[in-house]
Amino acid sequence: MAQYRIAWLPGDGIGKDVMDAARIVLDGIRLDAEYVHGDIGWDFWCREGDALPERTIELLKRVHAAMFGAITSKPVRAAEAELVPALRGTGLVYRSPIVRMRQMFDLYVCLRPCRAYAGNPLNFSDAIDLVIFRENTEDLYAGVEFSPVPADLAAALAKISKPFAPFKDLAPDAYAISCKVNTRKGSERIVRAAFEYAAQHGRKKVTVVHKANVVRATDGLFLEEARKVAAGFPGIAMDDANVDAICMWLLKNPMNYEVLVAPNLYGDIISDLVAQMVGGLGFGCSGNIGEKLAVFEPSHGSAPKYAGQYKVNPIATILAAKMMLDWLGEEAKAARLEQAVAAVIRAGKVRTYDMGGTSTTLEVAEAVAREIKG
Ligand code: NAI
Ligand code: MG
Repeated sequence: MAQYRIAWLPGDGIGKDVMDAARIVLDGIRLDAEYVHGDIGWDFWCREGDALPERTIELLKRVHAAMFGAITSKPVRAAEAELVPALRGTGLVYRSPIVRMRQMFDLYVCLRPCRAYAGNPLNFSDAIDLVIFRENTEDLYAGVEFSPVPADLAAALAKISKPFAPFKDLAPDAYAISCKVNTRKGSERIVRAAFEYAAQHGRKKVTVVHKANVVRATDGLFLEEARKVAAGFPGIAMDDANVDAICMWLLKNPMNYEVLVAPNLYGDIISDLVAQMVGGLGFGCSGNIGEKLAVFEPSHGSAPKYAGQYKVNPIATILAAKMMLDWLGEEAKAARLEQAVAAVIRAGKVRTYDMGGTSTTLEVAEAVAREIKG
């Protein structure tokens, strides 16, 4: 029996292309693993009314980790229209399978390493080497939203708000409410994960991103929990910054940052910013990590116009596989894989279109696999 059982979830569109590439590299590094295919994505929504079928959830309960490509998703009404006729009008509502996986398996860490590899023509600056910890289950993405606003909530708000509150006396559909919900537990554990990572990887500073001067209740709580956690790590400095200011500072002096930690929404925004600074969608990778399960993926979507053409850059997905190796405790293999990626980028001979080349998705993967073998 193989040492590891890995759920293999290609999903839709280019998800399949980049996962084929990742597999070439994992086979090249000889990970002793069994890869078990799992159904996920748009086809399963259309045919079965569920983009994350029960059998895939059962599979995820019995694996060491998962690799996930990308999925296509559409707004609720457009999704309903694409259901097979027998399922239309039955009350099925499309929900993002990624968000469901995060919540169902409590994958509370979204880890996003952003490293500029030397020789990448898309680098904004070669000095960038930072890691973002984004809280992955709560904050403004908690799913507590109201549109129209129910009468009992409107009445309760009217009672406790200031007389000049802009929503007073409005009709229920004249406004909408999305709640930002941040718990002490959720804030503590993401900040702790960031400090533990810094301690394990010789990083000297963790920067906490927030907007506590304006969003006092929730971000104030986040910052308070961060300070408590930081006190337990005397060897690592903590600083903090407002989310708007950090966007400026990251562009101006990216080399000043090592580890960033943020509530869900701010983490989402700064990770796209920094991903673009180290090459964009072809390089952005992420891990959704919980206590028992972790799901690794490229940050990009299914790019339907390139589906099946084996044209897009697989490096994001190959780096996601590297993150999986680290998480499994296969650090030597992870390091070797990353060195091979760095060598292929440095040599500059095998490049997909986004890097100015004409190589295919699988040619990039084969070049990395050759480099691994030496
Ligand atoms: P996208 O990320 O799929 O593609 C946008 C554009 O970026 C592509 O047309 C292509 O030009 C470029 N691109 C993406 N990945 C690339 C790669 N590996 N190499 C080179 N270029 C690449 O975003 P879009 O078009 O907004 O969404 C398409 C579908 O994907 C939608 O249904 C959306 O909901 C879904 N989506 C899924 C995500 C996921 O599975 N995690 C994340 C983002 C979007
Ligand atoms: Mg995003």
